Amino acid sequence: MTEASAVTDAPAPPKAAVKPHLPDAQIVTSVKHWTDRLFSFRVTRPKSLRFRSGEFVMIGLLDDRGKPLLRAYSIASPSWDEELEFYSIKVPDGPLTSRLQHIQVGDEIILRPKPVGTLVHDALLPGRRIWFLATGTGIAPFASLMRDPETYEKYDQVIMMHTCREKAELEYGRQLVESLKDDPLIGEMVEGKLLYYPTTTREESPHMGRITDNLTSGKVFADLGIPPMDPEEDRAMVCGSLAFNHDVKAVLEKFGLHEGANSEPLEYVVEKAFVGDGI
Ligand code: FAD
Ligand code: A2P
Repeated sequence: MTEASAVTDAPAPPKAAVKPHLPDAQIVTSVKHWTDRLFSFRVTRPKSLRFRSGEFVMIGLLDDRGKPLLRAYSIASPSWDEELEFYSIKVPDGPLTSRLQHIQVGDEIILRPKPVGTLVHDALLPGRRIWFLATGTGIAPFASLMRDPETYEKYDQVIMMHTCREKAELEYGRQLVESLKDDPLIGEMVEGKLLYYPTTTREESPHMGRITDNLTSGKVFADLGIPPMDPEEDRAMVCGSLAFNHDVKAVLEKFGLHEGANSEPLEYVVEKAFVGDGI
């Protein structure tokens, strides 16, 4: 029996036994483990929190000394959702994720309600097609944007390219895309507009190869039956490791696209999926 379901006339627990509330606490409502290195979870949403799909916030737990241990996390749920979803790596010795991976329904996490980020529609000029280019957990902001009606109102075609080393790492994104066609809010909008192009690089799967290579060789355009990127029509959002972001930027620039920002919307925008792999 949990504390919450204890009989009503039971004596109140002594003060020391009452779990202290974390600052900016939100309650975990579900957790799903996808691989030994990846999991997703949902938490309650602060009533006052407004954010634009694609933005990130700081979340975390208390460390051993009772100090908040916070990390940047993209909100994977769309801006209309009643809850907040996150998609997370499990870094074995990572200060936060070595603990965060053990959260369970009913636990508290800290969530600082100050969303920011560049992967937002406002940071791009209007266009015909939008490309979401992600590796690993970099799909998180696009899990939000793919579920936002605004994405389909603004663009004729939405192309989600997601690359991981192995097939199991694509599963969160694959199931999310699959679920969209039955979504009562955007199911009809997505039909025929969302083109999903998952690839692996170290395990056999229907589509193989790095995003950079599939763009440069033209394979993805041929496979999807769409023209090569054109700065007049194509817009892109990029989220991966620093090395990936660096190399994709070079490819996009070769197609004639320029990097924009909230303050100066242009043809593509970039966000780090995490920090710490050189460059
Ligand atoms: P850290 O000390 O933060 O990281 C240790 C090392 O683990 C890093 O040096 C890096 O080599 C590796 N690493 C960290 N994060 C990742 C990752 N996501 N994928 C692969 N390797 C990684 N992480 C998420 O899991 N989901 C998100 O949605 C997310 N959004 C982010 C948004 C932004 C803008 C930034 C800057 C980072 C984001 N991160 C995200 C990374 C996150 O902030 C933490 O780094 C991560 O949770 C690990 O925390 P840690 O304290 O366990 O280890
Ligand atoms: P590869 O297996 O060829 O290195 P990681 O797990 O190292 O973050 O990589 C996640 C995915 O991103 C892998 O499929 C990896 O391909 C790919 N990748 C890593 N670095 C780059 C890069 N600089 N350009 C394009 N793809 C990359």
